[in-house]
Amino acid sequence: MLSERTISLVKSTVPLLSDAGTAVTAHFYQRMFSHNPELKNIFNMTNQHTGKQQFALFNAIAAYATHIDNPQVLQDAIGRINHKHVSLNIQAEHYDIVGHHLIETLKELAPEQFTPKIEQAWREAYGFLADLFITQEEGLYRTVEQQHGGWRNGREFVIAKLVQESENVKSFYLKPCDERAISHYQAGQFIAVSVQPSQNEHTQIRQYSLSQSSKHDHYRISVKREGLVSTYLHQLAVGDTLTLYPPAGDFVLKNTTNDKVFVSAGVGITPMMAMLEQALTNETEARLSFIHACVDPSQHSFKQDIEQLAAQHSNLAKEVWYEHSDKGDKTGRIELQQSALSLPYEHGEFYLCGPSAFMAAIKQQLLAQGVASERILYEVFGPHESL
Ligand code: HEM
Repeated sequence: MLSERTISLVKSTVPLLSDAGTAVTAHFYQRMFSHNPELKNIFNMTNQHTGKQQFALFNAIAAYATHIDNPQVLQDAIGRINHKHVSLNIQAEHYDIVGHHLIETLKELAPEQFTPKIEQAWREAYGFLADLFITQEEGLYRTVEQQHGGWRNGREFVIAKLVQESENVKSFYLKPCDERAISHYQAGQFIAVSVQPSQNEHTQIRQYSLSQSSKHDHYRISVKREGLVSTYLHQLAVGDTLTLYPPAGDFVLKNTTNDKVFVSAGVGITPMMAMLEQALTNETEARLSFIHACVDPSQHSFKQDIEQLAAQHSNLAKEVWYEHSDKGDKTGRIELQQSALSLPYEHGEFYLCGPSAFMAAIKQQLLAQGVASERILYEVFGPHESL
């Protein structure tokens, strides 16, 4: 355990961290990537350019310093980060590198305030947090490795089938090159793909939600063409191979008999497809509602699949909102109060996935209808920002 003194010294530096803000984060990453350029193979270098990830890691550190005397309040956040880290194959030795550059950054930027006493307190505190992360992440690595079909580190998969789901979204059906079993996953989880796009110095890892419920011989991801890695993936052909890390993620369908509502926008539909399929195979009496928003019919992925499922299952109701077309059930952005579906605000579970602003808006609408926040579950693609 950390001593009272360490806790109070670390807490005393919270204003220092929040005042320094982005200056610290920028300096930290610059320092780390110049001394340890191999980490450019792990970090999303596109997020580095937008500065998004820089906030995520530092917000977490500042939150940790703030709650150092009661780290329990951070347990959910830490759990989520552990899943992200595991899917990126982050190793114990990486923590020393990050910790070293963090302390050196604080020393370089605030030499007056960052006294040897404070430095020592930070070393202890960071070490304590890093040990917690390393232990929890090792537990997750082992769990998936020991499963039937599980593995650790990268594994080669071949593209067995490609399906264009809408103008910009393509599904990749991936089978293991070794033709052995693959591990089961929970609906809502994601998988990481490691690639080296041509003319790129570094490998890049991206996480994609699995867009079907778990199948015994393949994984399916559905990728929107929008950045460096997805554009590279879109030009691959059947027979090409990819390196995958095992499934991970804590945004999963709850195994309950409660009514469930899935609300997605754009490519945020991908984990919802897996969850819906799983909820339908669970064969409970639960009423399921599937609400999806996208720009117009050309961007509408899985349209036929959802229509077919709704025709086959009397407990499933669906509604489509097109922002710029009147060809859906509704036009404009989702306003749940205007939905023709009768939604179980009093007792249902609400699963959201899409851009952060979309999820924040839907969450507000749900809270206004009296939905308890524990019944609102969501996945953020990219660095997590609080809703
Ligand atoms: C993502 C915190 C250590 C690499 C994240 C996120 C947070 C975070 C908050 C965002 C999660 C999300 O998107 O929901 C921390 C903390 C650490 C730590 C508090 C130390 C105790 C490390 C280490 C590495 C690492 C040692 C590897 C060198 C990454 C990467 C991402 C990430 C690659 C994904 C985002 C990106 O690629 O830009 N971490 N992290 N982290 N972390 Fe860590």
